[in-house]
Amino acid sequence: MEIKLWRSILCPYELAVQELILKFTHMAEEYRANDQYSPIESVSGRVKSITSILEKMQRKDIPMEKMEEDVEDIAGVRIICQFEEDIEAVAQIIKRRSDMSIKSEKDYLKHIKESGYRSYHLIIYYTVETIFGPKKLQAEIQIRTMAMNFWATIEHSLQYKYKGDMPPHVTDRLINAADAIISLDREMSLVRSEIIDAQNSSQMQSNIVQDILLCIENLYKVATQREVMKIQDEFLRVFNTKDLMQLERFHRQLDIIAEGYHAQAVR
Ligand code: GTP
Ligand code: MG
Repeated sequence: MEIKLWRSILCPYELAVQELILKFTHMAEEYRANDQYSPIESVSGRVKSITSILEKMQRKDIPMEKMEEDVEDIAGVRIICQFEEDIEAVAQIIKRRSDMSIKSEKDYLKHIKESGYRSYHLIIYYTVETIFGPKKLQAEIQIRTMAMNFWATIEHSLQYKYKGDMPPHVTDRLINAADAIISLDREMSLVRSEIIDAQNSSQMQSNIVQDILLCIENLYKVATQREVMKIQDEFLRVFNTKDLMQLERFHRQLDIIAEGYHAQAVR
């Protein structure tokens, strides 16, 4: 196939990957803006290279005309979670969305691959708007924890190095490492609620501080310098106590003052 034709076929997949990354990244930001724990830690994605598409078609005996249907991971998105429990939560969120529909799923958490690979995969249908009109295409979403991702990344490099001919001592090491990752994820799950609490209050503090600073900035324009200086000093005092309750109280008081000046903070 001509390079130009490849470019034209892959173009909507580029758009899909970018849109999906944006949507999932924004979801994490939305949780944080609402002082809530985000089950999504980070998101990445890629369009499969022409070489990898051709290799896969050869390996699976896929004819050219079936490429878009049978190569399901031309568009690929990876969602990384902190904890194993978050994976299920993210899968549920995707299933409830109106802009994505599920074609199939593979649960390599319940059914660990022989290599030791663990991850949750969804193949979705997703529609992008192109200059030729709407195009419904498929994308693969991999959902895994940071620990699972660490393992998969290392294993993938080794697979690449040994080109499918991995020596047994390396395979054994990887199986051991996979077991260690299972224990690590389990240990982290046990302290999950404590970690979430800590992250929540840190996020909450950061949101409040952001509001307060914006508010003070606005007050600079309308209140007297003396008053603003006084507020700023009080803010520093409260901030240094590292007491979230005091910070919240100060935020409420400041809000009332700002309301009087019509200078409330909007993030
Ligand atoms: P391909 O493996 O891509 O040919 O697709 P498939 O139809 O066999 O689906 P599968 O669910 O096995 O794999 C989809 C993707 O998951 C792969 O492209 C990899 O990104 C990832 N994956 C699957 N198995 C492994 C594994 O053993 N190790 C690593 N590192 N990644 C894997
Ligand atoms: Mg495979």
